[in-house]
Amino acid sequence: MNEENPKSILVIFGATGDLANRKLFPSIYRLYKNGKLSEDFAVVGVARRPHTNESFRENVEQSVKASRPDNEEINDGFFSHFYYQPFDVTDLASYQELKNLLERLDEKHHTEENRIFYLAMAPNFFGTIAENLKNEGLTDTKGWSRLVIEKPFGHDYPSAKQLNEQIRQAFDEEQIYRIDHYLGKEMVQNIEVIRFANAIFEPLWNNQYIDNIQITSSETLGVGERGRYYDKSGALRDMVQNHMLQMLALLAMEPPIKLNPDEIRSEKIKVLRALRTMTPDTVDDYFVRGQYGAGLNNGEQVEGYRDETAIDSESNTETFVAGKLLIDNFRWAGVPFYIRTGKRMAAKATEIVVQFKELPMNLYFNKGKDIQPNLLVIHIHPDEGVTLHLNAEKRGVGTTSTPVKLNYYSHNGDKINTPEAYEVLLYDCMLGDSTNFTHWDEVALSWKFVDVISQAWTAKKANFPNYESGSMGPKAANELLENDGFHWWSI
Ligand code: BG6
Repeated sequence: MNEENPKSILVIFGATGDLANRKLFPSIYRLYKNGKLSEDFAVVGVARRPHTNESFRENVEQSVKASRPDNEEINDGFFSHFYYQPFDVTDLASYQELKNLLERLDEKHHTEENRIFYLAMAPNFFGTIAENLKNEGLTDTKGWSRLVIEKPFGHDYPSAKQLNEQIRQAFDEEQIYRIDHYLGKEMVQNIEVIRFANAIFEPLWNNQYIDNIQITSSETLGVGERGRYYDKSGALRDMVQNHMLQMLALLAMEPPIKLNPDEIRSEKIKVLRALRTMTPDTVDDYFVRGQYGAGLNNGEQVEGYRDETAIDSESNTETFVAGKLLIDNFRWAGVPFYIRTGKRMAAKATEIVVQFKELPMNLYFNKGKDIQPNLLVIHIHPDEGVTLHLNAEKRGVGTTSTPVKLNYYSHNGDKINTPEAYEVLLYDCMLGDSTNFTHWDEVALSWKFVDVISQAWTAKKANFPNYESGSMGPKAANELLENDGFHWWSI
């Protein structure tokens, strides 16, 4: 295999769905355009709906064009690599037809019998598809076979375990690529580089110098068209179990002995194992839930969660979570990690703030008060970069200092050249690099942590709605920090 230009067939289950159209097709196009795919590739879309190759290619073209507001010319040759096969995931004949098609395409496109099966669809059939792919011989090739799975990977630990066991009948752990798209984001990947490639941070990266760490991922959008899924999931399962805990693990892990998937995973797993567990009775001391009511979104009046399409009018589902997590190990004992995430908040932003401890003695003041603590802010989205907050001299005023910011923005704000998370992850999967995918052990530990919270919340009805659309969440989320003498740094 050519390392730089992997040859493979990508089979997308759910090829007429939202994820394929919004993310996967544009990402495949960018890989192609940037010379990352050789000419030896094919994409096979499978889904229930009837389509011909031609009508499917038109869909792909529309989706790629919609992602390129610059109206750039797209080479027609690109679309000729796409094929469609109507598919019934429970009918074995569909698998045989797919098998024949893949064999023909292997020959036509010289793809060396390398196959990626990408499950971009409702999760109910993940297990069935994996088993049928194996039993019907689709993974039995001279090349490699990999399975890419979108979230949700189960809805609690027992269901995730069951799903995993089913998939593992057909694929080894090394062949399974569980997507957490946050791990494909440039600045999430940069957390390790900032920590481990700079002598100035790592010596301070512990409970002697850090007061607390805050991770915020806020969204302005509401639940939109996804009510049916979301009302059963909520923010805890949708964002905390995966994206938020993954960012926390990267921030808290020990330096791996090597930058390979096994070593990095084993350090992340140690963090998740060290998370202080709660009992249903203590959940309220550490976690706050919220649900948005009506309010203003970008100046427009919007309705509350319970009035959205497909949402129960008395829904107890949380659209906001804030939490205080403690990591009981030598490095982090006593340092709270605060997380918060929610829909219909004031801003769309993902940001990490590392707040350093105050100096043992203040010689300088800022506006009559103690100087501001040093902060390291990692901007994940929409800005991508780092800001270091320092204190510097205020000209001509003896003992007064003033806060200053050192900013670094990657790509100078040129978002067009920032690779999309899905583009990065698809390419990693083609190269067989599983570093930025979640291992089963991480998934299992995250579910076990989160399950205690959801059990406590299911058992007790919340007083919802408790935050206005367009705000930064319920008051209790602020009190969570205020009780510890901290506050959220605004984003
Ligand atoms: C997804 C969630 O995993 O992440 C969505 O299912 C959420 O509900 C999305 O909107 C947020 O991702 P991003 O990349 O926009 O921060």
